[in-house]
Amino acid sequence: MTTTRGLRDREEPITMLTAYDAPTAEVVDEAGIDVVLVGDSMGNAALGYDSTLPVTMADVRSRTAAVARGVDDALVVADMPFLSFGVEEAESVRNAGEFLKEADADAVKIESGPHTIETTRRMTDVGIPVMAHLGLTPQHVNRLGGYSRQGTDQDAAEEILELARDHEEAGAFSLVLEHVPANLAAAVTDALSIPTIGIGAGPDTDGQVLVINDVVGLGEWSPPFSKRFGDVRGEMQRAVGEYKEAVEDGTFPAEEHSHVEDDLEELY
Ligand code: KIV
Ligand code: NA
Repeated sequence: MTTTRGLRDREEPITMLTAYDAPTAEVVDEAGIDVVLVGDSMGNAALGYDSTLPVTMADVRSRTAAVARGVDDALVVADMPFLSFGVEEAESVRNAGEFLKEADADAVKIESGPHTIETTRRMTDVGIPVMAHLGLTPQHVNRLGGYSRQGTDQDAAEEILELARDHEEAGAFSLVLEHVPANLAAAVTDALSIPTIGIGAGPDTDGQVLVINDVVGLGEWSPPFSKRFGDVRGEMQRAVGEYKEAVEDGTFPAEEHSHVEDDLEELY
């Protein structure tokens, strides 16, 4: 079983992937991935939105519960969606707690900033482990004007380093660094004793995270800092195409699919 404490003490790089449903979570967990993030990237990756902003508490709760049912060993982290935190402190803590209490998450992740230091402390105090997230924070797309790299000038880099320290001090058990220069990610990793997990942040963090769609090649497009290790989209296209053809030309269902007399209850 992966624990927040275990992550901190480990020597090898930490592996983290997103998942949004039980069968995908099973594959990720069986591969020995340390952390499964039920990311609000589900907005783009699973729900058909063009940003993460429309994702709701109900979306993340239902998908976190599904992922938790598929996972035996990995740490399950639920991503706090836009406006579920940061508006009011008490509401933020209750929303975070709901993922542990009702969806079997082990921890939550919050897109962090100056406004989440106290929130992180409060959640940690009541027993909700918090993964912080700095650099590119996609819920801020409207303020940032896009998804560009963050921390690229001296002031911005120092702000990220300082916020990283503040969130460690507030009790965060780890920190995601998204789309920042590799040397900044290395400096933050050096400065903290909690593990850093990078995406588009170079090789010098304590671990790496990617969106599952990118890793297996499910989406139409993947960001340049990710890598497609498979072609699930191509495989699905092939299978769906062959099914269609088989139904249309009458080769499915065949003899062996047509006389299922066994009690189906017993087969499931
Ligand atoms: O929602 C997500 O998938 C994330 C990761 C990219 C860190 O926040
Ligand atoms: Na996210």
